[in-house]
Amino acid sequence: MNYKEFYKKSIENPEQFWAEQANEIDWYKKPEIILSKDEFDYPLWFKDGELNACYLALDKHVEEGFGEQIALIYDSPVTQTIRKISFNEAKTETAKLAGGLQSLGVEKGDNVIIYMPMIPQAFFAMLACARIGATHSVVYGGFAPNELAIRMDDCKPKVIITASSGIEVDKLIAYKPLVDEAIELANHKPQNVVVFNRKLGAKIPFKKYDIDYDALVYGSEEIDCVPVKSTHPLYVLYTSGTTGKPKGIVRDTGGYAVALKFSMKYVYDVKPDEVYWAASDIGWAVGHSYSVYGPLINRNTSIIFEGKPIKTPDASTFWRIISEHKVQTMFTAPTAIRAIKKEDPNGEFIKKYELSCLRTQFLAGERCDIATLDWYKSHIDVPVIDHWWQTESGWPMISIMIGVEKLPYKPGSSGKAVSGYDIRILDENGEELNPNEEGYVAIKLPLPPGALLTVLNNPERFKAGYLERFPGCYFSGDGGYKDEEGYIFITGRVDDVINVAGHRLSTADMEEVVAAHQSVAECTIVGINDELKGQIPFAMVVLKSGEEMEHFQLEYEVIQLVREKMGAVISLKNVMVVQRLPKTRSGKILRKLLRSIIDKEQFQIPSTIDDVLIIDEIKSAHAEYRHLK
Ligand code: COA
Ligand code: AMP
Repeated sequence: MNYKEFYKKSIENPEQFWAEQANEIDWYKKPEIILSKDEFDYPLWFKDGELNACYLALDKHVEEGFGEQIALIYDSPVTQTIRKISFNEAKTETAKLAGGLQSLGVEKGDNVIIYMPMIPQAFFAMLACARIGATHSVVYGGFAPNELAIRMDDCKPKVIITASSGIEVDKLIAYKPLVDEAIELANHKPQNVVVFNRKLGAKIPFKKYDIDYDALVYGSEEIDCVPVKSTHPLYVLYTSGTTGKPKGIVRDTGGYAVALKFSMKYVYDVKPDEVYWAASDIGWAVGHSYSVYGPLINRNTSIIFEGKPIKTPDASTFWRIISEHKVQTMFTAPTAIRAIKKEDPNGEFIKKYELSCLRTQFLAGERCDIATLDWYKSHIDVPVIDHWWQTESGWPMISIMIGVEKLPYKPGSSGKAVSGYDIRILDENGEELNPNEEGYVAIKLPLPPGALLTVLNNPERFKAGYLERFPGCYFSGDGGYKDEEGYIFITGRVDDVINVAGHRLSTADMEEVVAAHQSVAECTIVGINDELKGQIPFAMVVLKSGEEMEHFQLEYEVIQLVREKMGAVISLKNVMVVQRLPKTRSGKILRKLLRSIIDKEQFQIPSTIDDVLIIDEIKSAHAEYRHLK
């Protein structure tokens, strides 16, 4: 097949293109209205269709005689467990859990928060919600109770499903007390908390609202899937924006299922039956789309990995899993490869495993630096495909579509536009730029199926954040350029969002927490380069006048405050005290300038700067800070 022709069809006649793809999944009621629009002229896909995502992921395969095929392999180096779960078993437990949730009063249209580590029960919880038409919202375990409470107040879950603990390398992290604390903090109180007891010794303080997961499952009948409308919200996933409040990205059901099925074939070139592994966490978009729904809808075996690329127990884990479970397609973030490369620069572990099963390595979550790409290629001879997407899109927007045509890839580029995504590089005024000119990455509407429906409880924020900057386009928040051949290079965020170890975090969010410290008058946080994590946050604070605090004491307190309020995953390790912050004459902090100073990069002095002398002040404060560290 020819990529150019295939892509062109999707852009010139999206309705026909996606109507054909909608035939690739099963519907209770086939859609007749393929593409319609909401009040913002934003696309709605398959509006009158009815389906169920859990049916597509589990029941369909059982009905078609594949019940004994392995749906999930739980590989947990941190508990030294490997468990293989067939589609039959997954369906039975999911259908019983769904029955249990229904007995607690959870109905179609209710929201359920899932706060769990990477264990099979987390997958069953997501699918059980989908089965009864409840909307799940998974919150990443690395977030602190306060962040969980913010999400609870926004999506108002009827029930929370959690586990007794997660394991971070060798630390047992008791989740239940964190959930209890979040409930204390939140205004909205859920009716029940379903707790899966992993029996690993974590404290599970008992509360009246608690329900034991095992008792609920075993005491319930299996129930059938409930048909939902295509635009019914399958899930809400919070992501960082440019303000302190996370955005609840709402995903539809029908468009998403069609897009995922399409992507498994045409982007990933994966056939049913094969083993597909996305080494992410279900707390992120990759986990939703390519650990749970994508591979299961495509009848692949998906791997539930509870561990890290290193230290669990060492840098050989990825290769062991690929070899042991015969993984054909793998997906991870470049930061994971950098971590492995650091521990095992000569690839000694790689040599110990038979990896001939592996066909393709996909990378996403952050820009893939060429050194990492080269290192991988020099040790494992498979195509390494960097591809670009966001929580909002739910599936790749730029990639080499190897299921369509195996085009060559260019180091540093995420590939070409994926079917349905009409990607434009625009200048300030929304004019399209010439090849190789860097600008804003926007996508001409309509977006294809699968992309976000709206921002939960805040359609105005959805409109203002994505649709108003460039009318007629979706604005991604990323910068980049396109070369003459249509290869796109993403250069990074153009807003205050940073990417730490493949995790998207908001510096505005962090600034709110740091500014709350009693000695801090003013602060700013920028994302600086980090060899392992790509970026890490770096805080600069101005003390209140008269404060005589030791700087290292302040640094310690601020770091602790951020861990406590937001979670360890933020990875704030540097807090530097400065006399003042560089600002424009209108009072905006010059963050880009600060980032360049800390990263020792070339910069131009902004013409709008209030006082140019401050640059030398910051430079010498940084030199002293580095010296003391
Ligand atoms: N529950 C509790 N704590 C968590 C957590 C969770 N689910 N996830 C992370 N944390 C904590 C960690 O324990 C760590 O705490 P510490 O500061 O006390 O050590 C902190 O949050 C930072 O965690 P992490 O970002 O994972 O850094 P790390 O140094 O432990 O590991 C990598 C570095 C690169 C190995 C790791 O970040 C990684 O595997 N990244 C891949 C990311 C990925 O797959 N992204 C998905 C997008 S595709
Ligand atoms: P998230 O919503 O957490 O998936 O983060 C999305 C953001 O991560 C994007 O807006 C990009 O800034 C960045 N990103 C994801 N994939 C890539 C990639 N392949 N290359 C460059 N940046 C990426």
